[in-house]
Amino acid sequence: MGLHGLLSVTIGVPNVVETAAYYADFGLTPEDDNWFATSDGGRQLHIVPAPTRRLVELRVAADDTDDLARSAASLARIGVPAELAEAALDTTEPVTGMRVRVEIAPRLVQVPVAATPYNGPGRVERPAARAPGFLRAHPVRPRKLGHAVLGSTNHEASASFFTAGLGFKVSDRIKGAGAFMRCSTDHHNVLVLGAPVNFLHHTSWQVDDVDDVGRGAAAMLDGNPDRHVWGLGRHYAGSNFFWYLKDPAGNFSEYYSDMDCIVDDQLWTPEDLEGARGLFAWGPPPPASFLHPDDLAAMMTGAHATP
Ligand SMILES: [Fe+2]
Repeated sequence: MGLHGLLSVTIGVPNVVETAAYYADFGLTPEDDNWFATSDGGRQLHIVPAPTRRLVELRVAADDTDDLARSAASLARIGVPAELAEAALDTTEPVTGMRVRVEIAPRLVQVPVAATPYNGPGRVERPAARAPGFLRAHPVRPRKLGHAVLGSTNHEASASFFTAGLGFKVSDRIKGAGAFMRCSTDHHNVLVLGAPVNFLHHTSWQVDDVDDVGRGAAAMLDGNPDRHVWGLGRHYAGSNFFWYLKDPAGNFSEYYSDMDCIVDDQLWTPEDLEGARGLFAWGPPPPASFLHPDDLAAMMTGAHATP
């Protein structure tokens, strides 16, 4: 039947304890062995020790053994080795060295969350009441892992690994610089960006709506304003609201809501995005450190990332 989503990301960092505390603050539920769970997707983040920050492993969900065999054959056609077992396919992204495991897993079924009432011109959805979006008392808990973004020294080869190799589909491209790719109905589950060094740019986590993007970020910034990277804004590619924050190892983590869903491939036309559109539709101007994180030079010279 096909690939149907991301199962988990494993992030290597030099400072596991501080980074783990950050993702607990972010709203992920700590489990044993530095695993973290989302409310709908279960265990989706694993933090492991590494000399410098990096994306160590990505697990991708597939329906059945035919999907694994199809990916194995496609990888072989593009010359990427893979190991096919009964319920999983193990391979390595050839540019960044990230491990990828395609695994047979049940499809994630999310219980629909009731639409938040918003008043508009001629439309009163919330008579005589303050907005429920900010009256919510519970802390924000991400529903699921949405996507991971990789900086690659050869973005075309990395993108080809995901599309021609694993079977991801291209949703949009950043002209000459990267590709938004999906292995589910979400607009993107992996984005590969051209970069002077291989690194993890960010992971992104789904929350209920734009209010929870704001509430989550506000809670993270309360007492820790230096965690702020970029937000609130709305992307063009995927349409999602976003707010980016920075973990103590230097990885960005994003709260997002309202991403485009591509339920019928025939009805979606990928675009080659140029200029600001590749980055966003609206929001504050992106800081220089968003595209070129502060520790990029250190990573290029092989120095340890400074937490
Ligand atoms: Fe993102």
